[in-house]
Amino acid sequence: MSDGYRPLVIAHRGGADALPEHTLGAYLRALDEGADGLECDVRLTRDGHLVCVHDSKLERTSNGRGRVSAKTLAELDALDFGSWHPGFDKDLPELSRLLTLERLLGAVRDSGRQVRLLIETKHPSRYGAEVERRLVGMLRQHGLADPKPDDDVQVTVMSFAALALRRIRAQAPGLPTVYLMEMAAPGVGRGRLPFGARTAGPGVELVRAKPGLLPAIKAAGHQAYVWTVNLPEDLELVLGHRVDAVITDRPRFVLDHLDRM
Ligand code: G3P
Ligand code: CA
Repeated sequence: MSDGYRPLVIAHRGGADALPEHTLGAYLRALDEGADGLECDVRLTRDGHLVCVHDSKLERTSNGRGRVSAKTLAELDALDFGSWHPGFDKDLPELSRLLTLERLLGAVRDSGRQVRLLIETKHPSRYGAEVERRLVGMLRQHGLADPKPDDDVQVTVMSFAALALRRIRAQAPGLPTVYLMEMAAPGVGRGRLPFGARTAGPGVELVRAKPGLLPAIKAAGHQAYVWTVNLPEDLELVLGHRVDAVITDRPRFVLDHLDRM
């Protein structure tokens, strides 16, 4: 844009429109397309590994059954997480296996790109403090828990649960956090964020329903990352509010739109 405004474009679940969500193939494609960042949901396996899976259960995105948290890493690793999706490449099944957070971090590092990695912790009440503890431990091992401005990989932790943000802040005060907002989130409408979160993450349905929300977030001095922006009219809406990041299943569509502006 002529005034220099350009939001970050974040591939939601790796860019879930074109390829199976949360698969290495999706994440690599999103980086190849030029996305600024990647969004990833993490859950704990029964034996304590962080895996990139959105749903609590396996049925929608794999040929497995039951809860992710009831399976071991080895059991999940044997499943097919790709062929349910029309974009599945049967010649490269390796790219549609279960993705662990460790493997995603390695791939992001190996890309040599500057990448924003937005990690969402799911269900802190089910796992106790274990997800956040293991996440911070892994980020420390990779040198990512205390970000410096010139680090190629910049991690942000997101959650709908203020409790999770509090745990992250207690263990890694330098890690940026995003408070994800649905309709009933406390503070919605006043732009207030809990536990040192600097960024609000409202869903686009909430943005549509509450026209004053993004101005209130900005007036409170916070950044705004909006999800999941897939439709042209939603993209126009959030760009009109000068949001800081657009989280989308369709990164190529958003990047093309921004390039035309
Ligand atoms: O980026 C935030 C967004 O991913 C939250 O919703 O259900 O897709 O995890 P969900
Ligand atoms: Ca998510």
